[in-house]
Amino acid sequence: MDRIRIVGGERLYGTIPISGAKNAALPLMIASLLTRETLTLKNVPRLADVNLLARILGNHGVDVTIAGKRTGQRHSDGQTFRLTAEEIVDTTAPYEMVARMRASFWVLAPLIARCGRAKVSLPGGCAIGTRPVDLHLTTLQQLGAEIELEGGYVLARAPRGLTGAKVELSKVSVGATHNALMAAVLARGESLIEGAAREPEVADLASCLIKMGARIEGVGTSALWVQGRETLYGAEHTVLPDRIETGTYAMAAAITGGEVLLEGARADLLEEALQTLRSTGVEIEERPTGLRVARNGGGLGPVSVETQPFPGFPTDLQAQLIALMCMANGTSQIRETIFENRFMHVQELARLGARIELKGDTALVTGVGAGGLRGAQVMATDLRASVSLIIAGLAAQGETMIGRVYHLDRGFERIEEKLSQCGAHIERLSA
Ligand code: EPZ
Repeated sequence: MDRIRIVGGERLYGTIPISGAKNAALPLMIASLLTRETLTLKNVPRLADVNLLARILGNHGVDVTIAGKRTGQRHSDGQTFRLTAEEIVDTTAPYEMVARMRASFWVLAPLIARCGRAKVSLPGGCAIGTRPVDLHLTTLQQLGAEIELEGGYVLARAPRGLTGAKVELSKVSVGATHNALMAAVLARGESLIEGAAREPEVADLASCLIKMGARIEGVGTSALWVQGRETLYGAEHTVLPDRIETGTYAMAAAITGGEVLLEGARADLLEEALQTLRSTGVEIEERPTGLRVARNGGGLGPVSVETQPFPGFPTDLQAQLIALMCMANGTSQIRETIFENRFMHVQELARLGARIELKGDTALVTGVGAGGLRGAQVMATDLRASVSLIIAGLAAQGETMIGRVYHLDRGFERIEEKLSQCGAHIERLSA
């Protein structure tokens, strides 16, 4: 099993290209199930989750091809995927596949919308919380699907197709909004999705669906109006840049006290997180090619933050912020409101010398100052938790060795390469 070795203490200087967003690429790939024609996706990141989803879609009958390198393309440019679901040969998503990646549960909506039936395994628990799927199921029921649960599977049927309706989401859910959108675009008549998630990845899916022929209004708001269509068509769409990768590298630069250009990053996708970073004393400047992030010499101030659905501070940057605040002058309060068990990184950060007290859903992080973090052996527990260990390792004295890095490969493209090009001492050790 691969491990990552970091020798901390180097400031980061240079340019880091920001990849396409994992959490946009996955639903966009799933949207290919909605049409017989080819969906071309550009700027797809090179990630384990993307490859796994390509295999899962292949099982339903989707042909997935990846274009080779073209003249003028750089090593860091995203991939171009062509996905064609001319015929859906299998409407079952088996446990072995869905259990490995929760987002694959989202095939439920396009399968039932297009084929009138689907059998999809329940995703089961996950390291960051219970993560139920009740909202996904009630959404589909509101659109006329009959749902049964049997042997750990969701059996969904709509023999005469789905019917447009008012869909009310009682809690903000990114996945349930993706599901509702993908079902409503092929339903008969109009739908109104109220309480929709406003995350940029939802808006990216909606823009792609519009290119495929869907009629959607209210994109980017919590009320999405959809006029269903009988057929959708092929289209070409570029995946938006990854706001979580952007925030992660901004915090990596901030903890080391360096200066980096996050190439291709868009400030409008993470205003609240950038504002939080600015409040700690980090300089952030929008440039035509991306975002410049610097902390030259100044100390870091503590923060009081709670995670919230977009446009609030994202839960997917909570672990990274805790790592950064280990170097702040004072005590920060970081409250997690989205997932009830998303503090697995705390005990690993403690192994590096972090002073973090957990009080229910709130982490109180007391900065340990320069030299306070010391390298150690630690273990990645989930995707964002593992990258928080990298951020802390970059600032820790001596060697940090991170195990179970397959979690990182799910969501961060070539992280050790991107960081070492900016001067970090980081390498992957393959067992
Ligand atoms: C998406 O997960 C992301 N995953 C997550 O990123 C992200 O943390 C999360 O949204 C919140 O922003 C992808 O996009 C692939 P939710 P999702 O439904 O859609 C509750 C990462 O690290 N809920 O918005 O599964 C749920 O338990 C991952 O990249 C219900 O109660 O999250 C949570 O408390 C981790 N019933 C809240 O809603 C439901 O039916 C928000 O979850 C569905 C969700």
